[in-house]
Amino acid sequence: MKKTLLSGSTVTGDLTIGNYIGAINNWKKLQDDYNCFYMVADLHGLTVYQDPKAFKERSLSFFAQYIALGLDPDKNTIFLQSHIHEHAELTWILSCLTPMGYLNRMTQFKDKSAKNEKNINAGLYTYPVLMASDILLYQVDLVPVGEDQKQHLELCRDIVSFFQNRYGETFKLPEPYIAKMGARIMSLQDPTKKMSKSDDNPNSFISIIDPPKTIIKKVKSAVTDSGTEVKYDEEKAGISNLLTMYSVLSGKTISEIENDYVGKMYGHLKIDLADLVVETLKPVQEKYADLMKNKDHLHQLMKQGSEKARVVASKTLDTVYDKVGLYPEHF
Ligand code: TYM
Repeated sequence: MKKTLLSGSTVTGDLTIGNYIGAINNWKKLQDDYNCFYMVADLHGLTVYQDPKAFKERSLSFFAQYIALGLDPDKNTIFLQSHIHEHAELTWILSCLTPMGYLNRMTQFKDKSAKNEKNINAGLYTYPVLMASDILLYQVDLVPVGEDQKQHLELCRDIVSFFQNRYGETFKLPEPYIAKMGARIMSLQDPTKKMSKSDDNPNSFISIIDPPKTIIKKVKSAVTDSGTEVKYDEEKAGISNLLTMYSVLSGKTISEIENDYVGKMYGHLKIDLADLVVETLKPVQEKYADLMKNKDHLHQLMKQGSEKARVVASKTLDTVYDKVGLYPEHF
């Protein structure tokens, strides 16, 4: 029996090269060996203000981008989080077991509320509980994510013990999978900050669907230090970030790349990295454009995903409702 894996991305902005390198590239690699659930986290997207019409289009676009990036909708279960009502329901149960003290420690909540002072809502605060529900509903062994989600996964594991201490063995204890390389791709404009799809400055990230000209412009204008030697150095966050991206996308080690650039300047690496990103994304963008031409087909694939997901999620939720003592409707 294959082990199970789940991961997802929140619907805000457009998927970035950071999401690809830190997460989706690994989802793709794991899809042959695991029974995979890949979710478009649209409910999480509502923690920031969304224009309803644009939000609907973006959810469809994320779904198409997952497939265009190489996730096979027949082999995997790819679905929209909001199509499975069990996610929101389990969140309520788990919220009643999660101490506020644990949520207060979440660094993403602190960062996001500092960025979004006018809309610090309760959903932003309980966001990690919804994430735990996403995972626990599917009895997941592994959760492949970038580094920034590590704390949320630790909380998910804590929630498993809060639940099980009271109600007995119910959920699988999920393990995080965080790759050694590329788990934290930095902003192109401020390499001390994580690259984020919701950054106000679009030059700080490369979107999966950015046109080649835009990609080239963004990479060329990436902020680096005033040095010239192409060498990985934690003190030189900008050039080290570009080297990391180059390494993951080319499959070369950092020292191989450093050797290739002996006697060359930062500018040479930027030009080559821009070309590499454009080349990597070219087939993805072609497939994406193709998929978006046939929305009926996408809707059909979405339905196929949610039908598969619902079977597993409803079974877990039934068990949970029974364990916590909710009175059954059917006997
Ligand atoms: P999200 O949408 O912020 O990011 C999706 C995935 O991409 C990774 N990632 C990065 N990796 C490397 N460098 C970066 N700059 C970078 N930015 C993002 C993230 O770590 C993540 O793996 N809450 C989650 C979505 C979610 C989820 C889940 C994930 C909802 N439910 C259940 C796993 C399991 C989020 O907002 O990811």
